Amino acid sequence: MTPLAPAPAPATSYVDGFDRHIDYLRVSVTDRCNYRCAYCMGETPVFLPKRELLSLEEIDRLATIFVAGGVRRLRLTGGEPLARRGLVGLAKSLSRHIVAGDLDEITLTTNGSLLAEHAAALFDAGVRRVNVSLDTLDAEVFAGVTRGGRLWDVLRGLEAARAAGLGIRLNAVVMAGLNDEAIEDLVLFAHHRDMNIALIEAMPIGRANRDTSRRYVPLSRIRAALERRWTLVDLPGRSHGPARYVQVEETGGRLGFITPMSHGFCQDCNRVRVTADGRLATCLGRADGVDLKPLLRSTASDEPLREAIAAAIARKPKGHVFDVTRPDLGGVDRAMWSTGG
Ligand code: 5AD
Ligand code: SF4
Repeated sequence: MTPLAPAPAPATSYVDGFDRHIDYLRVSVTDRCNYRCAYCMGETPVFLPKRELLSLEEIDRLATIFVAGGVRRLRLTGGEPLARRGLVGLAKSLSRHIVAGDLDEITLTTNGSLLAEHAAALFDAGVRRVNVSLDTLDAEVFAGVTRGGRLWDVLRGLEAARAAGLGIRLNAVVMAGLNDEAIEDLVLFAHHRDMNIALIEAMPIGRANRDTSRRYVPLSRIRAALERRWTLVDLPGRSHGPARYVQVEETGGRLGFITPMSHGFCQDCNRVRVTADGRLATCLGRADGVDLKPLLRSTASDEPLREAIAAAIARKPKGHVFDVTRPDLGGVDRAMWSTGG
């Protein structure tokens, strides 16, 4: 295949039918994960055959097309992104767009279990911030929720990430009877270590649906409980997406509330996702999107890909369909591990 001269970047960024500007791409680099979080996966998930996964070169090419189209922020997710061999190399390669001034940042969403090994290399590759999932500080509850994960691995990973100079935001999915009584401890843990933390409402997506609905807690309840003890000062606007942030006066740290269930945030959505097998998902809560892999594998020209992406974004749905009053209805049958967090 003869390399083509890079086409000039279009002047405008991606805009959908509701005037939302899409400048944020999340790419899942693998659907595999070394954990089996109960709200995410069944006990024995069926992963994609290896040949269905995009190669690192294909991911790089696709991400580069998005950057040329106006995407300014890139998040690498999974599954567990650090479970994909070559992930750090991919980040390093993509960071050429940061150097060129075409991309603001590359971030990572990880379960943290492999971070001790990779944190320094990630920083060297140009990554400056990571989101680390951590729902509990209780080793037994942790092992239960993740079905076998060791809390210690994540704590070591967090220390390594801090030592490497990575900014950290913890993500905690709030679950009734599992961690909803211990959120204050999690927030203190984070803030004492200069980490941000975001609380997330459990969404009924994927196979793990029914149990997730049973454990759903509206974050308004958690916020009210925290406010009995702390002063929470609303921070203006939504910084980088759907999280609403407050400052905890007593700790000086930031706390986010991500409420996909109780409060719609779709009107502010600025993102699309690419799954590990190359499908463009324009909405997390809907089974829509377009398969980019056939185009990736059949044409050396980026133009058809550019067109397919722009067309799919133009059709991005107005919002997700989770219905908090009918958790029994469940959501979409495409879980976080296959869509990309
Ligand atoms: N509901 C809410 N959050 C979820 N995550 C995974 N599955 C769900 C779900 N069903 C979280 C992970 C991770 C983030 C990317 O999404 O815990 O922190
Ligand atoms: Fe893995 Fe994240 Fe899913 Fe847990 S939530 S099983 S860490 S992909």
